[in-house]
Amino acid sequence: MSNIIRFGVSLEKDLIAEFDRYLKDNGYTSRCEGIRDLIREELVKREWRVGQRVAGAISLVYNHHRRELINRLTDTQHDFHENIISSQHIHLDDDNCLEVIVVKGKSKEVQKLHRALRAVKGVKHTAFTMTTTGKKIP
Ligand code: NI
Repeated sequence: MSNIIRFGVSLEKDLIAEFDRYLKDNGYTSRCEGIRDLIREELVKREWRVGQRVAGAISLVYNHHRRELINRLTDTQHDFHENIISSQHIHLDDDNCLEVIVVKGKSKEVQKLHRALRAVKGVKHTAFTMTTTGKKIP
């Protein structure tokens, strides 16, 4: 027996037309696949909101000549060592470094780590990818 359940959805014409444009722009070939992804997207957002165990990546760009900044970034990462799975350091040019920190754990803790890193004086930019461990997302 299939584990697929079909259900009907009634939507306004304008809304479905806009949704179809969204699907086309994003390369979907079926409404089903687009709806599945939107549902997963919301379920992952919910994991973060309600404080479940999550996964993610924090990217930082900074100038490595600022020694105090390096020390603070390192101290902060040691404070959160239980949430950090790995980190990668890329020398972008003579001055700039890109660091990508892969994180896992309770959403509140991981968000606290991101805020602490972002607040370090001299960090030029951070990007935060908030994703899932995948355990509760079919
Ligand atoms: Ni570097």
